Amino acid sequence: MAEIERVGVVGGGLMGSGITEVAARNGLDVVTIEVSDEAAQAAHERVESSLRRAEKRGKLSVVDVTETLERVTVTTDLDALADRQLVVEAASEDERTKLDLFARIGSILTDDDAILTSNTSSIPIVKLGAASGRADRVMGVHFFNPAPVMKLVELIPSLTTSPQTLERMQSFVSDTLGKEPIEATDRAGFVVNSLLVPYLLSAIRMYEAGYASAADIDSGMVLGCGHPMGPLALADLIGLDTVRAIGVSMYEEFKEPLYSPPPVLDRMVDAGLLGKKSGHGFYPYG
Ligand code: 3HC
Repeated sequence: MAEIERVGVVGGGLMGSGITEVAARNGLDVVTIEVSDEAAQAAHERVESSLRRAEKRGKLSVVDVTETLERVTVTTDLDALADRQLVVEAASEDERTKLDLFARIGSILTDDDAILTSNTSSIPIVKLGAASGRADRVMGVHFFNPAPVMKLVELIPSLTTSPQTLERMQSFVSDTLGKEPIEATDRAGFVVNSLLVPYLLSAIRMYEAGYASAADIDSGMVLGCGHPMGPLALADLIGLDTVRAIGVSMYEEFKEPLYSPPPVLDRMVDAGLLGKKSGHGFYPYG
């Protein structure tokens, strides 16, 4: 089977732009889809500014940045995915949106061997496979934020994913992208979010109940447990809308109160306080 050289990424937000960057830095040709010209421009700028940051830190040369950017096309035309050998869907964490995308992309892909994946962390992969009309070549490939930095990728085959699809993704993630794959079953949250999200929601509940300030809750975990960042700063980094959406999906799946988003999180999302990406969450960002 041909080596994967042409990748599509659907969604150029935090995760989509990070995945675009990872693929392009590893020499792949990447087409990234956004919903509007403004969003496409913003996605391109996110990739470029992250590459410039790596250049400033001496990790990439000016030529590396130029060549990497030449491998990236951001467009609003979903049909541009037609010749892709791998598509990673990283649209917002909304089941209806993803089901619709999988149905459309399933009919656009022209390569019979092409693999269609989702970066979802909580929506059943088996449903996405069924919507796509090519369920044996669909699976979950879950990256972590910031994607260029975090080494882990969770691989989630569904009941209908073929063993060949899983094998191709295992070698793609480790050999082509240089990341560490772990495998998880098709249950909301997989491995990492099943452990992480209840922890983040507990910290938000603690903040809501007035146990301590946001800064002290975070310092507690950074200085007391050696975490690279505290739970409220991490929720801000992930995006409070995303944390909320994952909690809702996990609560729907397991009906465990620990997955249920606390009211203050709902209110913050309703108010547009989405964390780092909106400029304000538990902390302000300048
Ligand atoms: N994009 C690209 N690169 C970034 C970055 C970003 N947004 N933020 C930091 N980096 C890079 C820096 O360029 C630097 O790279 P270098 O070592 O090659 O020079 C490296 O990361 C360290 O950066 P800094 O020194 O500026 O900052 P820190 O040392 O404070 O690290 C951090 C920042 C990497 C974000 C660190 O705080 C961390 O690891 N935090 C935890 C992140 C985490 O837990 N992520 C998982 C979230 S869960 C998830 O994504 C799943 C989803 O489904 C919710």
